Amino acid sequence: MDKHLLKAACICFILSFFQSSCNAASYNVVSFGARPDGRTDSSQAFESAWRAACASSSSSMVYIPRGMFMTKPVVFSGPCTSSILFQIDGTLVAPSNYQDMGNSGFWILFTKVSRLTVHGGTIDARGSKFWACRRTGSHCPPGVRSISFLWSSNVAVSGLKSLYSELIHVTVSNCNNIMFEHMNIIAPSRSPNTDGIIIQSSTGVTIKNSLIRTGDDCIAVGPGSKNIWMEKIACGPGHGISIGSLGNSLNEAGVQNVTLTNAVFTKTQNGVRIKSWARDSKSYASDVEFRNIVMRAVDNPIIIDQTYCPSNRCPRETSGVEVSNVRYNNIRGTSTTVEAVKFQCSASNPCRGIQMRNIRLTTPNRATTSTCENVRGSASGQVVPRSCL
Ligand SMILES: *[C@@H]1O[C@H](CO)[C@@H](O)[C@H](O)[C@H]1NC(C)=O
Repeated sequence: MDKHLLKAACICFILSFFQSSCNAASYNVVSFGARPDGRTDSSQAFESAWRAACASSSSSMVYIPRGMFMTKPVVFSGPCTSSILFQIDGTLVAPSNYQDMGNSGFWILFTKVSRLTVHGGTIDARGSKFWACRRTGSHCPPGVRSISFLWSSNVAVSGLKSLYSELIHVTVSNCNNIMFEHMNIIAPSRSPNTDGIIIQSSTGVTIKNSLIRTGDDCIAVGPGSKNIWMEKIACGPGHGISIGSLGNSLNEAGVQNVTLTNAVFTKTQNGVRIKSWARDSKSYASDVEFRNIVMRAVDNPIIIDQTYCPSNRCPRETSGVEVSNVRYNNIRGTSTTVEAVKFQCSASNPCRGIQMRNIRLTTPNRATTSTCENVRGSASGQVVPRSCL
C-alpha cells in the first residue's frame, strides 16, 4: 500500500464516526496536473481531483503533497457520494498579483459538502499588497476570504494554518456540525478586516486549541449562530472575540447558546464583546458564557456595546437586540484602560440576566471601574472592578 493510501486508511479509522466503509481511494492533485512550483495555476487540477473524489462510491482522499502550489479561486462543491479526506501536506499560495483573485469573494470554497475532513497544510493568501492597495483607497478589487464553508455539514478541519488573508481567513455560513481544531491563523495587527473565523447562520460550531493573531476580530459569532463552543483559544493581537455585530436589519436571526472557555487574550482591542447596531431589530443574543479567561493588556476586556452606528446611519434610534443570560465567570488579568467593564445596553431593550462571578481586572497603576447603562443582573464572588450591576 502506498504511503498516501496508508495515511488515508489511518485517518479513515479515526473518522469512522463519519463513514461506513474504509477502503479509501486516493486522488493526488499532481496526477491531475498540479505543479508544486509555486507559479503554475493548479486550480483546474484541484477541482478535477475533487470531482473524482466526490464521485467515488466509497470514502476517498484528495491529496496535496509537499511543495508550494499556486492556485486561483477554487470551488469544491458537493453533494458527494461518500466521505472525503482533504489532506494537505503542502502549501497553497495565492497568485502573486491580487488582481488574479477575481470577483467571487472567495479563494478556497467548500460548498454543499458533508462528511468532509480537511487536515493539515498551509494556505497563504499573500494579502499584503492588497492591504496596501486598500490603504491608499484607490481602485482595489473586492478581495477574497481565504477558506470558506457554505451549506455544509459534518465537517472537521484540523491542523490548518492560514496566513495573510486579504479579508476574512475562515468563513462558516449555513453549516451544521463543523469543528475546527489546532488552527493557526496569522495576519499582522494592522492588516484591515483580516478577521480570523466568522460564523453565521450555523448550528453546532466548535473551535478548539487554536491560535489566532489578526488585524480584526479573532472570532466573530454573527446572526443565526446556535450552539457555538470555543475552547482553548489564544487570541491576539486583534479585536478580540465578538458576538455581533447583530441587529443591522429588522428581521435578523439571533444568537443562542455560545460558550467560550479557557481563552487567553493578548494585547487585543477587546476581550469578550457583544455588539449590536443602534437600530430596530428582532435579533437577540441569549445564553452566553465566558469563563476561565485571562486578559493580558486588553483595551476593553469585558464590553457590551449596543450603540454601534458607523457613519451615523441610525440617528436617534436604539438597538432592538435583546441581550439576556450572559455569564462572566473567572476572568482575570490586565486592562490598558481604566474602564475594564463596560455595559452600554439599549435603552429600549435593557440587557437582563447578566451575571458576574470571580472577576479581577486591574491596570498597573490606577483602580479600574465599571459602567452600567440599561443593564440588570447580579454579581457574586470577588468582583474587581466593583460591580455596577
Ligand atoms: C449548547 O451548545 C453546546 C455546544 O455546542 C451543546 O453541547 C449543548 O447541548 C447546547 N445546549 C442546548 C441547551 O442546546
